[in-house]
Formats: sequence, structure tokens, C-alpha cells
Amino acid sequence: MKGLILSGGKGTRLYPLTYTNAKQLIPVANKPVLVRVIESIRDAGVDEIGIVIGQTGPQIQEVIGDGSKQGVKITYIPQESPDGLAHAVKISRDFLGDERFVMFLGDNVIQGGITQLISDFAKSDWNSQIVLKEVENPTAYGVAKLRDDGSIEQLIEKPKNPPSNLALVGIYMFDPSIWEAVNSIQPSKRGELEITDAIQWLVNAGKRVFPHVHKGWWIDTGKPTDMLEANSLVLEELVPGIAVDATVENAQIDRRVTIESGAKIINSVVRGPTIIGENTIIENSYIGPFTSIYHHVTIQNCEIERSIVLEHSTIADIGTRIQDSLVGRHAVVRRSDDKPKALKMNIGDHSNLWVV
Ligand code: TTP
Repeated sequence: MKGLILSGGKGTRLYPLTYTNAKQLIPVANKPVLVRVIESIRDAGVDEIGIVIGQTGPQIQEVIGDGSKQGVKITYIPQESPDGLAHAVKISRDFLGDERFVMFLGDNVIQGGITQLISDFAKSDWNSQIVLKEVENPTAYGVAKLRDDGSIEQLIEKPKNPPSNLALVGIYMFDPSIWEAVNSIQPSKRGELEITDAIQWLVNAGKRVFPHVHKGWWIDTGKPTDMLEANSLVLEELVPGIAVDATVENAQIDRRVTIESGAKIINSVVRGPTIIGENTIIENSYIGPFTSIYHHVTIQNCEIERSIVLEHSTIADIGTRIQDSLVGRHAVVRRSDDKPKALKMNIGDHSNLWVV
């Protein structure tokens, strides 16, 4: 079995963080989502993985390399433009050959891994297995209608009258019958080759398509709020620890806190679950819970809760608690006492700033 990770796309809903950076490289609990995806495929015993890349491909290649750090062999598959998930499958034909494969969206985070799913599919005679999750608002998702024998009868995109509350999660397994499907379907109204259309094609052609209903949490990190939610959920499962070369001086550190190598926590309170990245400095501050501060960040005289701060940023002397925030790379958020007393901004396109 091979693995295919979709890591192209535009990531427009995460602008400005994804203007120039791949959304799959945004860290959740200080580890890029894409690395988490690679690890869950590897842990299920699949070590030959293709990654579909788009305009942010060079960055992805720089971070992931040949996969040896994760113990896998990576092949990159460039997609000229993001023409849909089924299009990404279509262009991966040479890499996948006639093997069965698991396809994982590179911006999804799932609890508990995919080992069981992969072994169920490997043992079965199914042509495809798709992962479903019970959701409260099925009208916002692709929803499955099941037959009495449990197989898939129909997939409906954002249905007005949902036939079930089972939404499609971004993990799919296919056998070679998918090739005829992706070559037969036409672009949808939004101009993309849709994976739901390819799966429906399999169903209509009498192929055996079965679901796996996932019981744990699953987050598609498409929007900033999803990113914060995924961060909280992953932090809750992190095994905490303080690196031997981290410095903790006059600080109160909760037991669910991870402090990475070279970090310095001085005269501060850190409440878990929280992670503080390598060589980051926290001084006279209150951090957490549910907060990930990445590497080489400086935080002084601030209170930050349920947030993600990316590398090389500085946040200092802010009088109000910062909460539910995503701060990008090399950002500076600082109080200024210069006259005239005014809010001064130098923020990127599509940024959001909520002033209290
Ligand atoms: P989406 O979240 O559907 O699309 P997107 O990444 O372009 O984001 P946005 O809607 O905010 O602009 O994509 C799901 C995953 O699949 C994501 O990791 C990107 C990847 N993808 C491809 O690799 N190729 C494609 O053609 C598309 C549409 C997505």
C-alpha cells in the first residue's frame, strides 16, 4: 500500500498566514500539520508516500525533504493549479501505479491515527473505503447516505435535507478502480474535479465502497478557528516535559506544560496544556492554557491564552489579555508610549485586528 498526501491548494481561508506560506506547515502544538499527517501514515505501516504540491511546493520540500527524518520515502508530485482533489489523484497515477493507496488531506488532524482503518481496508475486498464522522451540522459538509448493508449509496455535497449526520473526513482509500473514475468525471460548477464525484462514480459503477465511522475528534484546519481548536485538542494529548537545557527561574509551571530545548521562562506563570518552543523567552508573563508558542519567540509583560504564536515573533507590554489569536512569523506586537497616543499598524493584506 502507498500513501498520497494532498498539500497543494491555496489556503485562502487562512490568509494572511498562508499568503506566502503553506498552510500544511502551520504548526499545531509546535509540529507542522503535514508532519503529523506523515507520521500517522507511517505509523500505520505505509512508508512510500507521494505529496501533491502546488505553489508552496518549494517550502514543503525544504521542510520535509526526502522524508528520512520521519522514516519514510517521499516523492513530490507537482500540481500546476489546484483543480480539485480528484485532479490531484489523477496526476499521481505514475507514482501510485496499480497499488491500493490511502489518501490523506495534508491539512487535516485526526485523533488516534489510521492504523485500524488501513488494516481493515487491506484485509477487505472493498474497492474504496471512506472515513465518516458524526457531525452536528451536516448541511455544512459532504454527507453520506448508507444502504442497509452499511455500504455507501450516495454522497451529497452540503445537502439542504441531510440523509444522515455522517460527514466525509479527509481520508480515503482506493484500489485501481479509482483510475477509471477520475478519468470519467467532469469538472463541477466551481471548476474542480471533485473527489465526491469520483466516489459516486465508483458507487454507480457497482463498486464496493464502505465507510469507517471515526469516533475520535477530527479537524480540518481550513480556518483560523479550526487551527486553534486543533491546537487545543492536540495539546491535551501531548505528553508534557521540560527539556534539560531549558531555564525556569522564579516561574510557576503547570504539570501539563512542555518546554522545549533552550527556552527560558522567567518570573512567569505557564498554565497547561501549553507548549513553549525552542529558544523562546517568556518573561514577566502569563501563558496558557491551550497555547503554543513556537521557537525563537520573545514574550514580555503579556498575558496570552488559547493562541498560537509562530516563530521569531515578539509580543511585549500589551496591557490587555491576548486570547484566541494566531500570530504569524516575525511579527511584532508591542505597546508604544510615543506621542501622539494612537494605534499604529503595519499589518498585511487580509489581516484581522480586533481592538478593545
Ligand atoms: P481545501 O481546503 O479544500 O482547499 P485550499 O487548500 O485551496 O484552501 P482554501 O479553500 O482556504 O483556499 O484543500 C484540502 C487539502 O487538499 C489541502 O491540503 C490542499 C489540498 N489540495 C490539493 O493538493 N490540490 C487541490 O487541487 C485542492 C483543491 C486541494
